[in-house]
Amino acid sequence: MGAVSIRITVNGETHELRVEPNRLLINVLREDLGLTGTKYGCGIGQCGGCTVLVDGKETLSCLTLAAAVDGSEITTIEGVAHRDGTLDPLQEAFLEQSAIQCGYCTPGMVIMGKALLQRNPSATERDIREHIRGNICRCTGYSSIVKAILSCAQASSPT
Ligand code: FES
Ligand code: FES
Repeated sequence: MGAVSIRITVNGETHELRVEPNRLLINVLREDLGLTGTKYGCGIGQCGGCTVLVDGKETLSCLTLAAAVDGSEITTIEGVAHRDGTLDPLQEAFLEQSAIQCGYCTPGMVIMGKALLQRNPSATERDIREHIRGNICRCTGYSSIVKAILSCAQASSPT
């Protein structure tokens, strides 16, 4: 099968690419664009390590064909921090709460947290646990990750 042309905007930068119809988004991000913050874990949609935002929606890039996101806006973990390198408040919260150990799950967790807080700025602990239940962390026991996301939810709630 021949390659197809796609145009995607990743972290605010537009790319015109030729991809094989069966090429996965995760491979385009990591190999073609060098955005290795998105992690390859299971490859079968069960760990959440490869989560990115596609048009604002959490998407498993290991299960998504690059050709299927032609015309989309994609945010990877590299696009979460500000352009001057300042970390996003949620990333700061992960550091403050020691929610990072090996770090392999962290990009997916941060992306999931960002998406949740955008939709529900006053998410509760239960909302957060429910939201990240498809993202596996083998190190932290999840409490510190939940606390990090919750601290941003509370910070953005009306007092
Ligand atoms: S690598 Fe995509 S869900 Fe595990
Ligand atoms: S910090 Fe190691 S998998 Fe989550």
